[in-house]
Amino acid sequence: MTALDLNPEVVVNPLVTGLERLPLRSTAVVIFGAMGDLASRKLLPAIYNLAHEGGLPERIELIGVSRGKLSNEDFREHARESIGRFSRRHPDQDVLDGLLANLQYVSGSFDDDQLYARLGEALGELDRSIGTPLNRIFYLSTAPEFFPVITGRLGASGLNSSDDAEVRVVIEKPIGYDLASARVQNEAVLAYFDEAQVFRIDHYLGKETVQNLMALRFANALFEPVWNRNFIDNVQITAAEDIGIGTRAGYYEGAGALRDLVQNHMLQLLALLTMEPPTAFEANRLRDEKVKVLEAIAPPTLEQVEEMAVRAQYGPGVVSGAESVSYREEPGVAPDSRTETYVALRLFINNWRWAGVPFYLRTGKRMARKLTEIAVTLRPVPHIAFQGPDSAGVQPNQIILTLQPDEAVSVSLGAKVPGTKMRIRPVNMEYHYGTSFLSESPEAYERLILDVMRGDATLFTRNDEVEALWRIIDPILAAWAQDRESSIPQYPAGSAGPQEAEMLLDGRSWRRL
Ligand code: BG6
Repeated sequence: MTALDLNPEVVVNPLVTGLERLPLRSTAVVIFGAMGDLASRKLLPAIYNLAHEGGLPERIELIGVSRGKLSNEDFREHARESIGRFSRRHPDQDVLDGLLANLQYVSGSFDDDQLYARLGEALGELDRSIGTPLNRIFYLSTAPEFFPVITGRLGASGLNSSDDAEVRVVIEKPIGYDLASARVQNEAVLAYFDEAQVFRIDHYLGKETVQNLMALRFANALFEPVWNRNFIDNVQITAAEDIGIGTRAGYYEGAGALRDLVQNHMLQLLALLTMEPPTAFEANRLRDEKVKVLEAIAPPTLEQVEEMAVRAQYGPGVVSGAESVSYREEPGVAPDSRTETYVALRLFINNWRWAGVPFYLRTGKRMARKLTEIAVTLRPVPHIAFQGPDSAGVQPNQIILTLQPDEAVSVSLGAKVPGTKMRIRPVNMEYHYGTSFLSESPEAYERLILDVMRGDATLFTRNDEVEALWRIIDPILAAWAQDRESSIPQYPAGSAGPQEAEMLLDGRSWRRL
């Protein structure tokens, strides 16, 4: 029995709706890197969950591409296992059988022209058997060095466009490893695909609570009047993780926390939090506003980096009751590695709305717990009328948006403690996503894959946006790369991060994890 059975009233709650059923043109989805981790853990399960919700087009044809020699049947088994293991829902056999019935596998090396000839044949055959050209999505779930290779070969073999259907390409992060390489990569992709065909994924934008940030700001008259330097004292954005780097040393050693989480996810949160209201929730209007605010963040000079950025690595410690080794002892990590697993930054936005307001960002692996939150602290009241010790409880209001693991918004208010005296204490006014909407949030990838099928790029990163993001990060990377001497601060695994990060806060404190 479900909560809905117990309380029939909630059935009519207009807020409780599933995914929209929009007419979508039948589509072929080609996954490059189909046997990889992302495809198995996220993409195939997300496509299954869309099928389960009835959110997919009438015909959806899946083609996996990878180097290994597999038969269609092998790939079907692999997809079935991945979905069984990683889907947020227990798979329904009929839905799963239907989804995987025509699944195909094309094997080959990404730089081999023959692969694209075979792929072209398979796609052409699908169009003929269905009697109408299918829209095509090429999902590049591969290492980034293959993006130009694959888009170039798709272009050379004429698979990059069609007169009768939409052709789209999806690219995963990282888009480049600095500004210059991101530009090269953008140019290589845009040599064969128009910007409108390119969907660059930042999975944070697919998270319900990240989109809820826009709802909070722009669907309420309450917050926007105070959303500026006159009322806001400072903002802290935290993306703490308890996990380490797992088996990803090969990637992470070359990336580090700044590239892995700040350049994309955290700066996206900052942009959505601080951009001007877009006139419409439409791809280019929204992205114009994000680019504008990102360009207002002055990149530091090399000399300023030391005062506005702190990097650190996790040492040994205890996380969730289990002993954990230091970063340098992780398999695949150099014993003298200088790759950061923690970053804290202080940024300023040089525009009329935000001048002078510090934005403190921190992220780290192997911290005390998983927590993604935005804490907006307002200025103190201009005059405290309550006298003596009774005034001690008057605290600045805070608006806390928790994105993970709970999805909630809370506003702290000063309230009177019951009794004969005028004593004040903060209390919280809270809204929890799960309780209000009685539904589990879909996975970010479900929303994003559906948006690619719809051709809606609102929640994807535009090429100029990628470059604006790198412009902020580049000088920090450069300053750190230059400094081969100073020791990298260590923080115990399972802690709230290094002491050194306190110095960024201008006498304030980081929020408790
Ligand atoms: C990915 C990073 O983009 O985001 C990972 O590469 C990180 O290192 C992950 O763990 C965090 O995503 P989420 O959705 O778990 O917050």
